[in-house]
Amino acid sequence: MKKLIIGGAAIAVLGYLGVVGYLHQFDKENATQLLMENRYTGEQEKVAKALFDNSCQYCHSQNTPLPFYSKFPIVGDQMQSDIQNGLRAFRLDRLVEGLKDPSKLSQADLAKLQRVLENNEMPIAKFRHLHWGSKPDEQEKVALLNWIREARKMSLPKETPNVDADRLVQPIPDSIATDEAKVALGHDLYFDGRLSGDGSIQCHTCHQLDKGGVDRLDTSTGIDGKKGPINAPTVFNAAFNFVQFWDGRAADLADQAKGPPTNPVEMGSHSWDDIVARFEMDEEFKKEFLK
Ligand code: HEC
Ligand code: HEC
Repeated sequence: MKKLIIGGAAIAVLGYLGVVGYLHQFDKENATQLLMENRYTGEQEKVAKALFDNSCQYCHSQNTPLPFYSKFPIVGDQMQSDIQNGLRAFRLDRLVEGLKDPSKLSQADLAKLQRVLENNEMPIAKFRHLHWGSKPDEQEKVALLNWIREARKMSLPKETPNVDADRLVQPIPDSIATDEAKVALGHDLYFDGRLSGDGSIQCHTCHQLDKGGVDRLDTSTGIDGKKGPINAPTVFNAAFNFVQFWDGRAADLADQAKGPPTNPVEMGSHSWDDIVARFEMDEEFKKEFLK
């Protein structure tokens, strides 16, 4: 009996080691393939290799070939849910695009990566039980952290006290370059009811400058007293947001500002043509801004 148990345990251990060995090989091939496809050079390659060699792509990039167990019932479902959560938390595909073109790098992605590296948080523990090779070693960590520091340096706000390329969060600049005429136009439009269908709603209705840039309501009230589904964030310093809206669906302020005037539960204008027509009737406005 004892022999049987020892024998069984030995087979189980061998089976486990076999799977671990197989996965190690699979991970290496996957990493090599990705590096070949992407043709990185020099320092970029070092960074990409450190990420791919540690299997970060399985849960943080779309369409990566997955290990065999991802097709098993239960284990596969677990993997899919890790991938879903992983993609929501951090996009490696976006980060490695930024390796080639730094203008595509997100400062938020860099900060998240720095944090998980410093705290040895990734990959998640259950993944490491099967993928023994998937944990950034000291050398890889140093290479990644150095690259993060250099990439961050390029976008630190200029002439701003207390910036520090090692820190996750930077101070915002004291001022930004603006065009006076555009500021005047923006100010007028911000308080102009004609952006709304019946003249009653301004940007300022929901983002009041004397109330911290918000309306102090659980959810905003738009045209005809219609209630929106979500809380209005402040407009103060919104120019520095890395994306706009709670879910980041607008890339910047220009992209964001297109939304409210024609949103049926916010300003309720039928179309931009309607809005332009209303402004074209105003001789004063035309003289000043629509030259
Ligand atoms: C098996 C799947 C899996 C692998 C492999 C994996 N991650 Fe993750 N990662 C996740 C999940 C799940 C989350 C979300 C964690 C949470 O919500 O607790 C996450 C979160 C993150 C975050 C965001 C953390 C935050 O605070 O927002 C970063 C950055 C990250 N992972 C980097 C990496 C890196 C770098 C690697 C490779 C060394 C890696 N991950 C490998 C599943 C994975
Ligand atoms: C009826 C209320 C209402 C009006 C009018 C309104 N907003 Fe908003 N605003 C909101 C709400 C609610 C959100 C959040 C929506 C979301 O995240 O889906 C928002 C989001 C924003 C954001 C994003 C801020 C951030 O932190 O992501 C900016 C900037 C903004 N509004 C500016 C404006 C401007 C400019 C106007 C006028 C053209 C305007 N808003 C009109 C309610 C309003």
